[in-house]
Amino acid sequence: MSTNVAFQRCINPDCAAELDCGFAEGGFKCPKCGELLDTQYNWDKIKVPRKLSEFGKRWSTRNNSLDFSGVWRFRELLNFCEDKYKVTIGEGQTVLQQNDAVAKYVDMKPGCLFLQYEGLNPSGSFKDNGMTAAFSHASMIGAKSCVCASTGNTSASMALYAHSCGLKATVFIGSGRIAFGKLSQAMDYGSQTIQIAGDFDDCMRQVQDVCTKLGLYLLNSLNPFRLEGQKTIMYRIIEALNWELPDWIVVPGGNLGNSSAFGKAFSELKQLGLIKRIPRMAIINAAGADTLTELVNNRKLTWNNGRTNQKTIDDFYADLTARNFSPHTCASAIEISRPVNLKKCLRAIDVTNGVVRKVTDEEICDAKAVIGKHGLGCEPASAATIAGLRHLRTEGVISAGERVACVLTGHVLKDPGVTVNYHKEKQGEFSNPPIEAPNDINEIIKLIK
Ligand code: F0G
Repeated sequence: MSTNVAFQRCINPDCAAELDCGFAEGGFKCPKCGELLDTQYNWDKIKVPRKLSEFGKRWSTRNNSLDFSGVWRFRELLNFCEDKYKVTIGEGQTVLQQNDAVAKYVDMKPGCLFLQYEGLNPSGSFKDNGMTAAFSHASMIGAKSCVCASTGNTSASMALYAHSCGLKATVFIGSGRIAFGKLSQAMDYGSQTIQIAGDFDDCMRQVQDVCTKLGLYLLNSLNPFRLEGQKTIMYRIIEALNWELPDWIVVPGGNLGNSSAFGKAFSELKQLGLIKRIPRMAIINAAGADTLTELVNNRKLTWNNGRTNQKTIDDFYADLTARNFSPHTCASAIEISRPVNLKKCLRAIDVTNGVVRKVTDEEICDAKAVIGKHGLGCEPASAATIAGLRHLRTEGVISAGERVACVLTGHVLKDPGVTVNYHKEKQGEFSNPPIEAPNDINEIIKLIK
């Protein structure tokens, strides 16, 4: 067992290889068995505050950039590098909004539904929580050039952090698969953008091979340090609830980094005695990209103490290949059929007694319009949470009086195309199209309701 404060460990219990934090080769896959790596800590060597509320007190010293950061305010819980390496641009200034109008839409009692607005981050999505942590690691090990595959938000966030700390950045995106808001960010923040004739899963495969061949630093969620930063979304939800726990967390599922990070966050807090129980988690797929739903609900795949049935996964993926399957959903952020964090997500489902559901594009767009009308708005993938919560309410899995926090992962302006089509083309129940008027004051006045 490593004696370092922080180290990496393979999640495969039959391997459990340990590596020091300096290891970043081959896209962060275990060099012995190829499985995913976790960041682990020797907690007895870290002075973790005895109560969670101690972290919140740092807000009063917010002119210290690490205390101001909604990620580094919790730094003892992601204690893998010294302060001198930490890269921050003010991420994590997000809000948890109690929203009774959206609660009504999902048939929940007033005061029970909360929306965690991660779109308020510097690049407009939750990814910044992860990038601040991963770029701190990259700066600690002296990386010079970084790369990612992306459905859009990872590339926007990576490009922003890379240029703020002087790394060269290259992003791989699937041709025609990325929302315009996100594509515009990657280009504007100055990264090299390579559009591959394929989908996200093709890009993800290519990027790992490129990392191995060229020794570039990988910023996808295979990078365990990125997931350490994403744990803090859960800390901030608890903080906003005055250090009380919600009953449920609802999160969209794409590459399954968030759900994996959230499960790890809660199991560590419990292990440290900072919380007494673990909230349940619901992970929501889009129906056109429903690998997790199929594997967990239909093929009964489980974590099984780290001995996940690999054959179930291999058979399913072989079937996708045989059908030449490419995922399709209007929620392009989660248009992924081979999620790289699948096994860590299964562990998170185990830890949180989690559930998985899928929702149609129509349900996503309706939910998005309801969130937009009554909240701060969000992109389609984020709205999958509310659409999924509606299913879970109808089924009675979640009751009307439980406290539920939905993670709205990306800003409404990320994907104007889906929003404009929904409203202008009157695609759904909540469409709010513009009304055409002649250039005449009397006619205009007649139209104002
Ligand atoms: N919501 C948004 C807005 C996203 O951009 C993503 C993932 C997810 C949800 C899914 O999160 O992968 O942790 O399950 N976007 C990645 C990207 C894949 O490349 O931007 P996950």
